[in-house]
Amino acid sequence: MTLRLRPLNLNREIMELKSYLKDRKALVEAEMSKSIGDSGIPETLQKAMNYSLEAGGKRLRPILVFAGAEAVGGSHDMVMPAAVAIEMVHTFSLIHDDLPAMDDDSLRRGKPTNHKVFGEAHAILSGDALLVEAFSVLAGACNSSNQENILSVVSDLAHASGGRGMTGGQIIDIDSTNRKIDEAELTHLHMLKTGALLRFSCTAGAKLCGATEDQIEALDNYGRDIGLAFQIADDILDIEGDQELLGKDVGSDQGNLKSTFPSLIGLDESKKRSADLIERAISGLSIFDEKAEPLRLLAKYIIERKS
Ligand code: IPE
Ligand code: IPE
Ligand code: MG
Ligand code: MG
Ligand code: MG
Repeated sequence: MTLRLRPLNLNREIMELKSYLKDRKALVEAEMSKSIGDSGIPETLQKAMNYSLEAGGKRLRPILVFAGAEAVGGSHDMVMPAAVAIEMVHTFSLIHDDLPAMDDDSLRRGKPTNHKVFGEAHAILSGDALLVEAFSVLAGACNSSNQENILSVVSDLAHASGGRGMTGGQIIDIDSTNRKIDEAELTHLHMLKTGALLRFSCTAGAKLCGATEDQIEALDNYGRDIGLAFQIADDILDIEGDQELLGKDVGSDQGNLKSTFPSLIGLDESKKRSADLIERAISGLSIFDEKAEPLRLLAKYIIERKS
């Protein structure tokens, strides 16, 4: 495969990105643990919600919320509710994705999946509660100075999570299992099931920080490209990845006869496709100055990651 994109430079960029990811992961995790504890939620439900929320993961979506805010000169405080909310929606999507009725997986974030520990009913309900909690966190941050931006982000999150976004993608994924679909359909599926939440993450932080329309449009285009590239990389990792590093079952797609990019166009072509998307995503950030450097590094990380 010819990767035209310059890979991350070992000495400087990887070190910088590592500490960038670590710092922002810690920021969102500290805030998330505050929001579920002591909340009047029945204890067994709280336990199941926290189990998956605190299991770890890359926290890529909240990190993108922060990076989008940083690109337009905003602060982390202003966007924290969106960072927490998107990680809650994402975690809900993972709990339900792993259920026996869906991908029937037993390992997630390096631990047994939610339904393996708490049973299917608790897993379904903890997912439901996380989804709704996300909207509660976001709407709860509304005040007289930010209400217009919060409302717009609430609406974006509903769009990205529901039938026009992630949930719609998941149903196409289920309905296209064991059936050959073409590249256009597969692209649509991936852009919805995974792309929608990532795309939301790229614009939400900037919106909350008062970004201009041009900036939001550029971030939306960036989010669309990295979202698709992310799921192509995920499909590749399901074949080539190390289960220990990934913390989730590998070979799940083949076992479930899923439609994926490698099964449709092959591994090499899939790698090329994702690299092209990342290159386009980065070039679309040209309207931003060096404050968008984390977004540029994050884009490369999406296809170079091992977990
Ligand atoms: C996994 O997402 C599910 C997909 C959308 C492919 P991540 O790879 O971001 O999972 P975590 O959050 O790091 O566990
Ligand atoms: C699911 O895609 C994306 C979600 C909406 C959770 P996958 O089924 O490929 O995600 P993994 O590989 O289980 O994380
Ligand atoms: Mg799935
Ligand atoms: Mg899955
Ligand atoms: Mg997968």
